[in-house]
Amino acid sequence: MCPPEHFEVLYEINPWMHAEVAVDPERARAQWEALAQTLRDAGAEVETLAPQPGLPDIVFTANAGVVNGPPHWAPAAAPRFVPSRFRHPQRQAETPHYVAWFEAHGYEVLALPENLSHEGAGDALPFGGAYLSGYRFRSDAAAHVELSRLLGAPVHPVELTDPRFYHFDLTFCPLDQRRALAAPQAWDTYGRKVVAAAVPELFELDADETGTFCANSVVVGTTIVMPSCPPRVGRQLEAWGFDIAVVDVGEFLKAGGACRCLTLALDVVVPR
Ligand code: ARG
Repeated sequence: MCPPEHFEVLYEINPWMHAEVAVDPERARAQWEALAQTLRDAGAEVETLAPQPGLPDIVFTANAGVVNGPPHWAPAAAPRFVPSRFRHPQRQAETPHYVAWFEAHGYEVLALPENLSHEGAGDALPFGGAYLSGYRFRSDAAAHVELSRLLGAPVHPVELTDPRFYHFDLTFCPLDQRRALAAPQAWDTYGRKVVAAAVPELFELDADETGTFCANSVVVGTTIVMPSCPPRVGRQLEAWGFDIAVVDVGEFLKAGGACRCLTLALDVVVPR
């Protein structure tokens, strides 16, 4: 995670951002601290990246890149990190800061070709021995072959169709080995088939539920840390045995991001 020292809405690169809307810096800081504490209480360890003036969206570390841990046949090998290539120039200067952090922490950093965009774990989420990866608004379909080669794991592309849900992590949330929250109305027909083939049990969010960003949740063990939890979603998650923790991240919704966007999972291992 990256503290929101310099977080504000300075530009508009998604339909939720309005540069005339002010961020309350104290409230942003308190919401960010509450999110970090809730994750720790659920059992997570939180590492931080230094905030950077002029890079307000660096708080959304989900977009740093894609992580894959060492293969089981070489558990001492360095984990891999493939840094994002951002679609919009406003975020491109974040990448060197992410790269520096991962190099300093012993990761093998492998770069995507320069002509391809891919926005990291905002678009590529691990599920069942592969990554499912959304594309169109921020990531290029052609990036997936390269990403797969660099991560040493399969990457299944899912086309996004609704500009409000411009990153895959606003439409899909893996819960455990079998289950996920999903907003199929934000994917094309083929993308729906790709996800249905990969995930045995999907809980389908309706349009209103998706609009609350409830898919943008962080799963720590059996705790789901959510920006909001519509009643029908809460009942299903509880029936499945999950604990729900709702954290208000309203200041970050002004930039089109929520709980999961504010984090990057480092414990990802997809078999190579
Ligand atoms: N303002 C940021 C952007 O538009 C929000 C990023 C949200 N991140 C995410 N993983 N969905 O790039």
